[in-house]
Formats: sequence, structure tokens, C-alpha cells
Amino acid sequence: MNAPWKPAAPRDPFAAFLCDDPTLDRVRSAAVELGFASEKCVRGGLRSAVQALAVSASPAILLVDLSDCSDPLNEINALAEVCEPGTVVVALGQANDVRLYRALIASGIHDYLLKPVAADQLLEAISGARTALLAPRAAAAAEAERTHNAIAVVGTRGGVGASTIAASLAWLASTAEGSPTALLDLDVHFGTASLAFDLEPGRGLADAIETPSRIDGLFIERAMIRANENLAILSSEAPLSTPLATDGSAFVQLQDEFRQAFARTIIDLPRSVMLNFPQVPARTELVVLVTELTLAGARDTIRILAWLRANAPDARTLVVANRHQQTHAEIARSEFESTIEGRIEHFVPLDTKAAVAAAKLGQTLAEAAKGTRTAAALATLLAATRGTAAADTEGGELLLDQPAARSPFAMKALLARGRQLAAAKMPAAAKVPAQ
Ligand SMILES: Nc1ncnc2c1ncn2[C@@H]1O[C@H](COP(=O)(O)OP(=O)(O)OP(=O)(O)O)[C@@H](O)[C@H]1O
Ligand SMILES: [Mg+2]
Repeated sequence: MNAPWKPAAPRDPFAAFLCDDPTLDRVRSAAVELGFASEKCVRGGLRSAVQALAVSASPAILLVDLSDCSDPLNEINALAEVCEPGTVVVALGQANDVRLYRALIASGIHDYLLKPVAADQLLEAISGARTALLAPRAAAAAEAERTHNAIAVVGTRGGVGASTIAASLAWLASTAEGSPTALLDLDVHFGTASLAFDLEPGRGLADAIETPSRIDGLFIERAMIRANENLAILSSEAPLSTPLATDGSAFVQLQDEFRQAFARTIIDLPRSVMLNFPQVPARTELVVLVTELTLAGARDTIRILAWLRANAPDARTLVVANRHQQTHAEIARSEFESTIEGRIEHFVPLDTKAAVAAAKLGQTLAEAAKGTRTAAALATLLAATRGTAAADTEGGELLLDQPAARSPFAMKALLARGRQLAAAKMPAAAKVPAQ
């Protein structure tokens, strides 16, 4: 069925609309036997189903009685309009007509049962619908797993802006790039992911940690909060008196589910959580290491990069200097790079104006800084997370580190060129619109 996806509402696994009591009773018994709730079986035919689904989320499996339809084939179109993609529909009716059967199947109905319907026929049809429900998911999941991109964002020091970068990447991925994205905030007590989007954190992550066995596709659909059409967030604001009690299995399970349900996962990963649960960064394609250009930042960049080489050897790493100020860095870029014996691949400027606007508006830094070089630097960083931009960013701030940039005249030209380069390097979908 093909109605547009209605984002926030959770899906029921099963619902049935039947025109007569004997069929209703039989369907109720079959539903209960298969583990579905009997109250989801109600009196009513196709028209009732259409009315109900127009204002609520479609169930995963829908049984609908066509006995009250004078023209079932035409009326089924009304159902197609309100029924969300992925719902498996089983129709029941009194017409013993093979042409009708064929036409219904061709229109996307999974099965057609002739009334009166026997109990075992019902069980078989509903089980068949359940198998059909899982089959395309398995194919889609395999495809999603193949192309999924999971990123952990880690700060080398407290307050360097790891959460700011994680939220910005998630926002850009979900809007400019249009990728279905999950933002997982593993700062269970002090996380800011939901704050960055002006949302309530909910209990989703706390529930997942408490009962990891409950984590499945349906759970994440219900537990995640939606920031926009393509972005779902899982976070918590756990009471400070509640210690983080997990063996990490919930995190791994969530990562696995996200791999199937989204194109991108972005994890705001506090250092302490990373060290306690090395399986989390080990299951990502990329760790974005956010740092400040300070002595302590350099020391901890070295230590964390070494730790990642040992504990997440398959994850690529990308060092990002955030809140970068050309003239006020505690350590120069060259010194920092020779200390860490590696490159800083990206620079995100210190942009107090945008950071204040972001906090006031409940937006991410990338959104609040739209059209500026801060936004361009973040968009270039996002492109690099897929490996689609050169690791050595020439756009935005990086050029300012070149000696020629110190002349005020050269600076203007370089900034303009930096913007052009950043724009040219971004894939069309990731371009940040001018203000
Ligand atoms: N590029 C930037 N320009 C200006 N301010 C920034 C920038 N990046 C982050 N900030 C600000 O720095 C502060 C700390 O940012 P953030 O919470 O993202 O850091 P963090 O590394 O996640 O901190 P924590 O260690 O507490 O998790 C915030 O007030 C944020 O608005
Ligand atoms: Mg943080």
C-alpha cells in the first residue's frame, strides 16, 4: 500500500475489520493464537478500515472484509490511499470469482479468503502475511547493511564540541543529504542531542538499556523521537542517582537495528562510554575525533588514536579541530600535527554568534550558521565521512592556516576561494544554501 509515510505514530502489528460476528469471532481466535491483541479485531468492513487508517498509523498486517463493497476493486483504491507502505493486506469476501481474486492480487493485496472462512485457513493466511512482512524487510535490511554508514563522534577533552558536531552532522545528513539518519546520544546522564533539536529526550534509551531483549524494529520505531522527516533521535536524561547499568549489549543491539533501519547512524560517544564499551566504536565505519588545539588536546588525541588502533582497528579516524581560531590557538596547527604525528583533516571555526543563535532557537550549529563558512566546514566534514570529500579539506578554515592568508587582502580572496572549493567538493545534495 502506498500512502505517504506518517512519521511519528507507532504501528500496530495487526488489525482486522470484519462485517459479521461469526467471522469476527473466528479472526479474534486466530489472532490470539498467533500472539496478536484480540481488541484490534473490530466490526466493520472496508469503509471502516479506510476511515480508521486515515487518522491513525497503518498496522503491519491488515485483514479487511470486502462483503459490504458493491465494487471491491474500485473501493480498494481508497484503502491504498490511506494505507502506509509495508502493510500486508489480506482481504475476505463472499464473491467466488477468480477474476476478482487475480485483480485484487495484482493491486497489491496479499491474499483473498472466501467466506465463510475456516479457522485453519485463517491461521495459514495470517502466518503467510507475517512471512511476507519479514521477507522484503530481510532484503531491504541486507541492502541497508551493505550501504549503511555508522559514525562515532568523540571529543578528546570535555566541552570541545563533540555533541555540537554530532548533532550538526545528523541534521545535515537528514536534510541536505536527505538520508534516513539515527542520532544515538550515549551521554546517558548529560546528553544534549534532544536539546539541540528543542525536543524532550523521552525514555527510549533508558528503556533500551534496561531491557535490551526488547530492542527490535518496532521498539526503535516507538522509542525514538523524531526531529524531522529523516532524523530520529534516541537519547535520555537519566537521573543522576541512577548509575549506567549495562554490559553494553543494548548499545550493540541498537547499532545493529539502526544498520537495518537507517542509511546513517551518528553516535555522540562520550570518552568514558567509549573506553568502557570498545565494541561501540569497533562497529562503526568512522570515528570523528573532535579536539581543541591545546597541549592537553594533543596529548589526548595521541592517546585516543592509539586506543582506537588497538580497539577499533577497522574504523577509519578523522581528526577535527573545532572552535578553531586562527590567531588564538594555544598550539599552532603544524606543532599539533607534528605532536600527534598525523594530520588534522578538518577545521570548524569558532562561531560564537551561530552557537548562541543555535542555543536560542533550539537548532543545531549547522542550521543556525546556514550560509556561513562554519556551515560549509560542517557540510564538507559530512561529505568526508562517506569518503566523498578529500581528507585534506582545502575549504573553509584550513586555507587560513596557509602563510599567505595572514595578509588581510589575501585573506579575503582565500576565503572566497575556500568557499568555492568547499562548494565544489560537496556533492550537490550536501550543498548548504546561501542565506
Ligand atoms: N564551533 C563552535 N563555535 C562556537 N561555539 C561552539 C562551537 N562548537 C561548540 N560550541 C559550543 O561549545 C559548548 C560545548 O559544546 P558541546 O556540548 O558540543 O561539547 P562536548 O564536547 O559535547 O562537551 P561534553 O564533554 O560535555 O560532552 C557549547 O556551548 C557549544 O555551543
Ligand atoms: Mg557532549
